[in-house]
Amino acid sequence: MRKVQFKKALLVAAALAVTTSAAAVGKLEIFSWWSGDEGPALEALVKLYKQKYPSVVVDNATVSGGAGTNAKAVLKTRMLGGTPPDSFQAHAGQELIGTWVVANRMEDLSSLFKSEGWDKVFPKDLVNLISSKGGIWSVPVNVHRSNVMWYNPAKLKQWGVSVPKTWPEFISTCATLKGKGVAAPLVMGENWTQQHLWESVMIGTLGAQGWQNLFTGKLKFTDPRVVGAFTTFGKVMDCANKDASGLSWQQASDRIVDGTSAFNIMGDWAAGYFTTTKKLAPGTGFGWATSPGTSKVFVMLADSFGLPKGAKDRAEATNWLKVLGSKAGQDAFNPLKGSIAARTDSDLSKYNTYSRSAATDWKSNKIVGSMVHGAVAPESFTSAFGAIIDQFAATKNSAGAAAAAQQLAVKAGFSK
Ligand code: GAL
Repeated sequence: MRKVQFKKALLVAAALAVTTSAAAVGKLEIFSWWSGDEGPALEALVKLYKQKYPSVVVDNATVSGGAGTNAKAVLKTRMLGGTPPDSFQAHAGQELIGTWVVANRMEDLSSLFKSEGWDKVFPKDLVNLISSKGGIWSVPVNVHRSNVMWYNPAKLKQWGVSVPKTWPEFISTCATLKGKGVAAPLVMGENWTQQHLWESVMIGTLGAQGWQNLFTGKLKFTDPRVVGAFTTFGKVMDCANKDASGLSWQQASDRIVDGTSAFNIMGDWAAGYFTTTKKLAPGTGFGWATSPGTSKVFVMLADSFGLPKGAKDRAEATNWLKVLGSKAGQDAFNPLKGSIAARTDSDLSKYNTYSRSAATDWKSNKIVGSMVHGAVAPESFTSAFGAIIDQFAATKNSAGAAAAAQQLAVKAGFSK
């Protein structure tokens, strides 16, 4: 009898030990550039993760700087130094595939896609974008739109101008506004936001097909049409503020809110900023339109998280990816972020009117990928392209910029 009791006690003790150790272990480091104003959506996701895995201590490691300009450099050092974060943000497409996948530093997530049923809920084209060499390499948390022009409806009314639909129309609206004393009808920020603008001018001038041809080598940067689009870009830049290089994308957005400038071309994280940070209502607090010449085109990018080989907390990171790819995760994150869910089954009643309009366009528009945000070009091209834009801003030499871009495209291996 005493023996039996002793055995029972041992079993209880063992069971307790299992529970306590499960409760005590667990660490997860996630790495991104979503800090400060960009933080709330990620924090909502972390909160959801903590509800499911309360014992895990989450280190939300962020390196601030729009479009990941600073974070990508830190990530590189860590990846090459053999101390990768457990999971990190990267853009779906060439940014991750052309660097860390080709370098054999990422884990193939195909089996996770299968077990979570993600092969059925993510759009096929998006899965193709994150796939290569027979593997799937990251989990997309959203879809952002890059080709959006933001404005302040009350100010446009006051100035008596309407939303320009083409770039030539934009340039003439700019002249009208200057005539009315608006010194900088367009607001731009630091270098990457200028590349972002360039992308919209190119697509609005060359068309979606022309844009795709540029990044598949069928159209050369030195083609007269592309050189002409650079010239248009130069004229658009002439409409902008002179202090651009010192402004973050948020500071540039602020100039729309306060009515200093009329237009800003920025991805729809600006909608997240206007609604989540600034508490403005879509349609009245801020207005939007597709950037000139790009109606019926959706220039997409997606923020995706991967699992690097050698991640210290692999099990926790896998659970993180599960939360990120879940319907609840995507519908907690995206309404705050300004993006739409990557999943096709999200609950649109949780989204505001801007995001619902983006969701409609995502289903019906021609989809092309963003260069600046990693979808269509390898990082080697994207990171070096900034210098071409800086040089162009100073000289407005279209033929020179086009020739330099062509050289870069050849070097990056997508053009001859
Ligand atoms: C993009 C990213 C967005 C947003 C933006 C501004 O590259 O995909 O989620 O963070 O940069 O930083």
